[in-house]
Amino acid sequence: MAKGFFITGTDTGVGKTKISCALLRMFTEQGHKVIGMKPIAAGRENGVWQDVELLRTASNIPAAVSDMNPYAFDSPISPHLAAQQSGITIDLSVIKKSYHRLSMQADMVIVEGVGGFLVPLNKTETGEDLAKMLGLPVILVVGMRLGCLNHALLTVKAIRAAKLNLVGWIANCIDPQMEAVTENIATLQQRLEAPLLSWVPFGKELDQSVSDLTCWNKSLTEAE
Ligand SMILES: Nc1ncnc2c1ncn2[C@@H]1O[C@H](COP(=O)(O)OP(=O)(O)OP(=O)(O)O)[C@@H](O)[C@H]1O
Ligand SMILES: [Mg+2]
Repeated sequence: MAKGFFITGTDTGVGKTKISCALLRMFTEQGHKVIGMKPIAAGRENGVWQDVELLRTASNIPAAVSDMNPYAFDSPISPHLAAQQSGITIDLSVIKKSYHRLSMQADMVIVEGVGGFLVPLNKTETGEDLAKMLGLPVILVVGMRLGCLNHALLTVKAIRAAKLNLVGWIANCIDPQMEAVTENIATLQQRLEAPLLSWVPFGKELDQSVSDLTCWNKSLTEAE
C-alpha cells in the first residue's frame, strides 16, 4: 500500500480537509498509524488554523505540529503572497524534511494540498512542484458546482503533465443548489480517465460513518 496520498482539489474550499480527515479515519479503522499533514496553511481564525486542527484531531498518533504544518500564515491569501507579507520564502525542502519525519512515525501520511493544484508557493514554484517533490499518489477532490467540469479537466491535465499517479477523484457536492449533479458527475466519469472513488452528497457527515468510504479501499490499497 502507498505510504501516503496527496489530496488536491479543483479549487480552494472544495472539501480537501473534509476528505483528508475522512481518509485518516478510514485508515485508522483499518488499523493503520496515520498522520495528517497540511504543509502550508493560510488564514488563522480564532487563533488557530482550522485545517491543521481538524487533521490533527483525525490523526491517531501524536506528531510535532511544526512537521504537520511547517508553514502557517495569518492572512487567508495565496501562500506566496502570505509568505511575502511575513518576510519569508516557502522552501519545499523544509516541507520534504517534515514529511520524511512524519512518514517515519506513521504507516500513512495524508497530505492536504493548498488551494488548487497550480497555486503559487513562491516566486517560481507551485503546488505542482510540491506534489512532484513528495511523489505521492494523488487524489483529486472535485467540488461539484457550476464551473467544476472545466476546473476538473484542467486539473487532471496538469496532474498528468506532471507525470503523477492520479489514483482517482471524488465528487464532493458542495452546492445544494447545483443543477444536473448526476449528469455532471457522469460527464466527468466519461472524460477524466481516472476512477470515481466516492461521491459525497451535500451535507453528508463523514465523521461517524467511515464505512461510507469503504468503496475506496480496493483502489487505494492497490495504489503505489
Ligand atoms: N459534502 C459537503 N456538504 C456540505 N458542506 C461541505 C461538504 N464538503 C465540504 N463542505 C464544507 O465546505 C467548506 C470547505 O470544505 P473544506 O474546508 O474541506 O475545503 P478545503 O478544500 O479543504 O478548503 P481550503 O482550500 O481552505 O483548504 C467547509 O465548511 C466544509 O464543512
Ligand atoms: Mg482545507
